[in-house]
Amino acid sequence: MLNKKEIKGEIIDKDKFSFTTDNFIKEPLIFVIFGGGGDLAKRKLLPALYKLYYNDRLDCEFKIISAGLPELGTEQYNNFIEESIKNYNSNIFEKNIVKKFKKNIEFIGLDFEIEDDFNTLKDKIKSTADLMNISKPNVIYYLAVPPQFSETIINNLGKYNMQKIFNTRIVMEKPFGYDLKSAIKLNDKIQEVFNEEQIYRIDHYLGKETVQNILFFRFGNSIFEPLWNRSHIDHIQITVAESIGIGERGEFYEKNGVIRDIVQNHIMQLIALVTMEPPVIFDAEEIRDEKVKVFKSLKKMSDEEVGKNIVFGQYEEGEVEGKKVISYRNENKVDDKSTVTTFMAGKFEVNNWRWSGVPIYVRTGKRLPEKLTEIYIEFKQPPLKLFENKCDEIKSNGLLFSLQPEEKTSLELNMKLPGIGNLPYSVEMAFNYNEEFDTGLLPAYERLLIDCMKGDLTLFARRDGIEAMWENIEPILEIAEEIPHKYFPNYKAGSWGPSESQQLIQNDGRKWRLDSE
Ligand code: BG6
Repeated sequence: MLNKKEIKGEIIDKDKFSFTTDNFIKEPLIFVIFGGGGDLAKRKLLPALYKLYYNDRLDCEFKIISAGLPELGTEQYNNFIEESIKNYNSNIFEKNIVKKFKKNIEFIGLDFEIEDDFNTLKDKIKSTADLMNISKPNVIYYLAVPPQFSETIINNLGKYNMQKIFNTRIVMEKPFGYDLKSAIKLNDKIQEVFNEEQIYRIDHYLGKETVQNILFFRFGNSIFEPLWNRSHIDHIQITVAESIGIGERGEFYEKNGVIRDIVQNHIMQLIALVTMEPPVIFDAEEIRDEKVKVFKSLKKMSDEEVGKNIVFGQYEEGEVEGKKVISYRNENKVDDKSTVTTFMAGKFEVNNWRWSGVPIYVRTGKRLPEKLTEIYIEFKQPPLKLFENKCDEIKSNGLLFSLQPEEKTSLELNMKLPGIGNLPYSVEMAFNYNEEFDTGLLPAYERLLIDCMKGDLTLFARRDGIEAMWENIEPILEIAEEIPHKYFPNYKAGSWGPSESQQLIQNDGRKWRLDSE
């Protein structure tokens, strides 16, 4: 019989095996990063690509062309890469390997708005492919740029037919569009140039192992699915809490706020994964079909309902994790009268046969007490109060998907407290990824880059999904933006948001699983 370690080894080896057998990844690859000198490239892409390389998961000849402005010289860009790996993957920084990795990367100056610069890029890709001895290279265009540049870049790629002369895929970051109208326009534009199968709209939450586990847990076990509905589930809570403020992203945040940054994408996706129907087969199109049905079934809110069901907030100064921090309005590049929302709590409902009447409470914000993402499913109370008057205090069964920082799934049950009488004793059955797999989980960006290289669209959003998500968010955004929030700032940094967030759920006789009160 295999012991646990051997079983783990087998799983991990198999996992690795599957990385190296897929075509695109074996074939030479040219990876073009628009915005290669920017924040996303530094924080996420370069460290992820380096780690794939370090772990032999980039099992192909590859070149990275980083493009953008200001133009960075070779030495400058080499320093940029080193800094990025040191800051974000320091535990695997090995001089020799970093040196070899850097040899595959080149920076070219490119103004997204100058057509001719794309001709130069095209020639660069061609000459790189010549050096690699390939006539029609696989090229991934990664748009790591502020959303306002996306259309221009796509237009210019199209002008030089750069989507067709190479085998190409394009990766688009979130937020995809600014509202429904602009998302439709952007989708139209991108589909003028690329086919839907070439388009990878990224939401890094979907790359998280613990997020993928939601579907696996639901459809890989037979005992929960019969209970997964309005008859047995009392309500659902989703919390995406961050202790950080907006850091150096003032400009981005002033334009987007928490609703575009987190609710329109990450939270919508989590709602879909928890509530969707089983797909007919586990395949990109089928899964995305089911998710879109959820987005379409979410109850659209009137202005009045937004007023009742949604709470907006903005942080004032306070103390987070033992440190004093400034208010949102005092952050760099933020208007000192800003009415931008940094917190949102809300009550949603998936209005279909399975879920009608089951509230889904969500909350997210910056400068909350801790970094934590979780989904909590609370089951209904037992139908009979059998255990004398103590029964009223019995804890509801709760299933918790803890996505981060703990990567854990647990179930709360009631046991009998030993002794005379019938007193409940609440216990937890838990599975924790980190305790079970000491290799750690594959980080989201690495997983999504691999999927894109393999051509697997399952974890990327489709056009109809993006638009359906915006449809749900528009009425909320309208209120958030049309009514200037005279009462902002309205929550202390380091608290769980404005008191109305507690009120929202307490009005229904419930409370947040984690709360200050
Ligand atoms: C990003 C947002 O999509 O997600 C950031 O733009 C946020 O504002 C980040 O901090 C949170 O991601 P994670 O993986 O740390 O929960």
